[in-house]
Amino acid sequence: MFSPTLINWKLILNQNFILMNQNKTHTFALTTPLYYVNGVPHIGSAYTTIIADAIARFKRLKGDEVMFVTGTDEHGQKIQRTAQEKGLNPQEHCDAIVSSFQELWQKLDIQYDRFTRTTAKAHESIVKEFFERVWQKGDIYLAQQKGWYCVACEEFKEKRELVNEHYCAIHPNKEAEWRDEENYFFRLSNYQEKLENLYTEKPDFIQPESRRNEVLNFVKQGLQDFSISRVNMDWGFPVPHDPKHTIYVWFDALLAYITALLEPECEPTLENAISKWYPFNLHLIGKDILRFHAVYFPAMLMSAELPLPDHVFGHGFLTKDGLKMGKSSGNTIDPIELVNRYSCDAVRYYFLKEIEFGKDGDFNETRFVNILNADLANDLGNLLNRTLGMLNKYCQGNISDLTGENIAQDNPLKKMSLELTNRVFKAYDHLQFSQGCEEILTLIRICNKYIDDSAPWKLFKEQKQTEVEQILYSILESVRLSAYLLSPIIPNLANAIYQQLGFEVDFNNKNNVKLSELFTNHSHWGKLLINKDLPKPQPIFTRLEMPEK
Ligand code: MSP
Repeated sequence: MFSPTLINWKLILNQNFILMNQNKTHTFALTTPLYYVNGVPHIGSAYTTIIADAIARFKRLKGDEVMFVTGTDEHGQKIQRTAQEKGLNPQEHCDAIVSSFQELWQKLDIQYDRFTRTTAKAHESIVKEFFERVWQKGDIYLAQQKGWYCVACEEFKEKRELVNEHYCAIHPNKEAEWRDEENYFFRLSNYQEKLENLYTEKPDFIQPESRRNEVLNFVKQGLQDFSISRVNMDWGFPVPHDPKHTIYVWFDALLAYITALLEPECEPTLENAISKWYPFNLHLIGKDILRFHAVYFPAMLMSAELPLPDHVFGHGFLTKDGLKMGKSSGNTIDPIELVNRYSCDAVRYYFLKEIEFGKDGDFNETRFVNILNADLANDLGNLLNRTLGMLNKYCQGNISDLTGENIAQDNPLKKMSLELTNRVFKAYDHLQFSQGCEEILTLIRICNKYIDDSAPWKLFKEQKQTEVEQILYSILESVRLSAYLLSPIIPNLANAIYQQLGFEVDFNNKNNVKLSELFTNHSHWGKLLINKDLPKPQPIFTRLEMPEK
C-alpha cells in the first residue's frame, strides 16, 4: 500500500503531468550526459555537446521554448582517486576541471541553459528525497555484493564482460577490483515487465533502432538488482538511513538531470524541480552509457512514480584515423586546440555534417581540412563573395525593387528553395543533421552551376539588366536561406553571411525574441530585400591549412 504522502505525491504529479502535456508542443527539454571530471574534456564530450547545442538552436529557431541542460558528474571513486593522485581535496579538483568544461563550451558557442553539478548542495536534497521515495516503495534492500568492479566505468562487471580473467573489456589496461561488501540494492528485477511494456508501447523511446535492439536483448536475459551504495568510499552523498554507506555515483548522477530544472531561488524539492520542464524530451548520450539511461533510470523513475522522458538517443563513438581514441594509445584530440586552430564553426560543421548521427564516425585531419575548404570556403564562401562582387559591378550594389515574387516560378533555384526548409527541418527533426546539411549544400552547388551556366557577365554586356538582376537576386536569396538553415550548425558563419547581405541578425543571441520573428520572416525563400548599401564584400571563411608536421 502507498503511504498518505505518496498518494498526495501521485495526485500532484498527475496534475502537473497533465498541465505539462498541455503546454508541451512549444517547449523542448534536452540533456547531454553529465561529464566525469576525472580529466579535462575530450573530443567525445565535445561531440555530444555540439549535437545537443545544434538541436537546441534548431528548436529555438522554430520558436520553441528550450531548456538545454549539461553539467558534470563529480562523485565516485574515480574522481576521488584522481584528486588524491594530484594531492588535492576532491572538491578543489572538481572546481578546477569544471572550469575547463565551461571554457570549452564557451569556445564552441554552446548555449546551454543550465549547468548542473552533482556536488551542488541542492542536488543532495533531491537525491535524498528521491532515495526516500524509492525506499518507501520497498525497492531498496541490504545484501552482500561480490564481484569485479571497474573503477573507470564505475560499474560492477559480469564475468562475460571481462577479458583476461578480470580486466574490463572497455578499459583493457585497467584491472577490475574484487569487491565483497555489504551494499544497498535497487530491485530492478521488479521492473522487468514494466520496462518491457514501455519498450513495446513506446517503440521510439530508445533510438536509433540498433541501440533499441541492444537494450531489448539485454533486458530479455532477465534483469538483476543492482547495488546503489558503496562502503569505504566517502566522496558522495551518505545513504539517508545508514551514513556509513555512500550513494552509488550513477544513482546520484542520473538524478542531477532533475536537479538542473530547479529555479535558482527555489527550495530544492522534487515537486519544485519537476514543476516546469519535466519530463525531458530527450536524453542524448553515447552508446556506452545506454543501459544506465534506457534501463536503470526509467526503472528508478517508475519506482519513484515520476514520469519518464520521451526519448533516449545513443550516438556512436568517434575514432581517430580509424582507431579507437585513448590516452594510452596517445591519439586523443584536444578539442580546445582544434577550435583554436580551425575555429568553432569548422569543428561544429565537421561533426554534424561528416558523421552520420547514431553511427560511429572517424576524425581525420586531412579529411577535415578538405571538407571544410570544399564546402564552406569554396562552394558557399566563394559563391557569396563572387555574387556580391557582381552585384556591385553590374548593379551598383542595388537591386532594391526585387523580391522573391519577381523571380519566375521555373527559376531552378527558386523551385528548389521553396521545398528546402521543409526538407531540412524534417531532417533536423529526426536528428539527421548530416542529411540536412547535404540538402543545403546541394542547393549551393546548383547555385554555382547556375551562375556559370547563365553567365551574368555576358548578359550584362548584352544589356539584359533585368535578367542579370534576377539571377543575382536568386543566388543571394538562396545563400541567405542556406545561412538561415545552417545557423544551428555554424552560427558565426550564418551571422557573417547575414551581415554581408545587410541584415542585423545575431543567431548567437538566444534570448533574442527576434528569433521567432525570424522564423516567420526568414524561414522561406523570397525574403531578401536589398534596399540599402551593403557592406564591402569580405570572404566569410578563410581556407584552412594543415599544420606543418
Ligand atoms: N558521467 C557519466 C555520465 C553520467 S550522465 C548522468 C559518463 N561520463 S563520461 O565523461 O565518461 O562520458 C560522457 C559521454 O562522452 C558519454 O556519452 C560517452 O559516450 C561520450 N564519449 C566518450 N568517449 C567518446 C568518443 N570517443 N566518441 C563519442 N563519444 C564518447 O559516462
